[in-house]
Amino acid sequence: MQRDPVAKLLLFGATGDLAKRMLLPSLYGLDADNLLPEALTITGTARSDHDDESYRKFARDALDEFLPDDRKDKGKIASFLKRLHYQPLDATDLDHYDQLAAKVGDVSGGLAIFLSTAPSLFEQVIHGLANAGLAGETVRIGLEKPLGYDLASSREINDTVATAFPEERTFRIDHYLGKETVQNILALRFGNSFFEPVWNAQGIDNVQITISETVGLEDRASYYDGAGALRDMVANHMLQLVALIAMEPPARYDVTEIRDEKAKVFRSLRQLKPEEVPGSTVIGQYLGGAVKGEIVKGYDEELGKDSHTETFVAIKAHLDNWRWQGVPFYLRTGKRMPTRRSEIAIQFKPVPHSMFSGRGGLLQPNMLVIRLQPEEYIQLLVMAKEPGLDRDGIRLREVPLNLSLDAEFAGTRRRIAYERLLLDLIEGDQTLFVRRDEVEAQWTWIDAIREGWKANDMKPKHYSAGTWGPAASIALTERDGVSWQDD
Ligand code: BG6
Repeated sequence: MQRDPVAKLLLFGATGDLAKRMLLPSLYGLDADNLLPEALTITGTARSDHDDESYRKFARDALDEFLPDDRKDKGKIASFLKRLHYQPLDATDLDHYDQLAAKVGDVSGGLAIFLSTAPSLFEQVIHGLANAGLAGETVRIGLEKPLGYDLASSREINDTVATAFPEERTFRIDHYLGKETVQNILALRFGNSFFEPVWNAQGIDNVQITISETVGLEDRASYYDGAGALRDMVANHMLQLVALIAMEPPARYDVTEIRDEKAKVFRSLRQLKPEEVPGSTVIGQYLGGAVKGEIVKGYDEELGKDSHTETFVAIKAHLDNWRWQGVPFYLRTGKRMPTRRSEIAIQFKPVPHSMFSGRGGLLQPNMLVIRLQPEEYIQLLVMAKEPGLDRDGIRLREVPLNLSLDAEFAGTRRRIAYERLLLDLIEGDQTLFVRRDEVEAQWTWIDAIREGWKANDMKPKHYSAGTWGPAASIALTERDGVSWQDD
């Protein structure tokens, strides 16, 4: 892959939560390891009134709060802060973009823009950038979600962006793709020979993907209440996981090949008809309860008003293609669940015939568990014989074959997903960014589910904080004789 690093970075939302928690620590992490182009300057912009000096102080405080202690190096922090500059911006005022462009200066050596903004401001920002000469051929743009709330609004945003930035200079961010363990799905599937022959409807009974979180609204009420779990988590992160699990082997690790194969998966998602939605989806909203021993409020109480926004969703999905015909993909995600966990469980088919049954031996079908976070491991559950003389019958037990990635790669620092993505944006590698056709195919499927909820007047069922969601989500899989992998 040919790297084409830019000389400048422009960060929108430079005083926001994402900048403090993720972007500044990530950029510092790259700088501390000498991975940023030597002369790279970073200009932050936002509504807040800062100058270079006060922004550097702001950034120093953010690093102090969010960097792990063992990463804090006074000298390296001081030299990182020198890269930072700041220009206030009222995104609705065209004149401000000229001032911003003046501050950024010459962009002939390349500029990467990281844009996170409210969907309502997209048009003004893109036009402002283009008018001020910040969208020319040497400029690429990274776009943070939310990029719309349905297919129509996402198309509108994509059209607006396309007026100034062609697709090859547009980098849509899904931070799950920046996670090491998510990229590892490709290594597991396509770097080993033994999974692929059974990685299909003949070998696999069902796939379960869980992203559970213990947090609640987290001061994001105005965004989250308008989004809900389906749009916040499924429309992007979970569907990307589905794509990596379900895609055909790409011929090369290459930006076009990988994204082509993912896009095919999204296009194979079976659209739910309105009448199928109640039987294939469950929505929930948390009530007060206890999470990890702490008493927490219910969603409505946290929000301060009644709401029908779902904080939990479970879906039974299908892919209509040869490889996956008849294999359900059960997806679930929710806030205020008992533990934080992102996990994929692949349930293989049972053996075609058990020679042990006449001797009392019971078999469980094999399962492969890919734990993405907080721990990183791959576990294959296999049957083994319990030691003994078997005079009362053969006893078989499911035992785990464990691969702890945490332990295997203990000496290697796990980078924040944004470190990888910011570096790829700076260097111009689009492989881990989402292409327009992927996004639009994702929304097409998501919109059909939302239409089904509306047509059937479905409202979220309540669940107590600290539980695995409404009972109906258990019924969703149990009806098929499948249990969620919950331990
Ligand atoms: C974000 C969602 O995209 O992902 C949040 O907007 C969610 O609601 C977060 O909490 C989860 O990310 P991670 O990396 O903590 O799994």
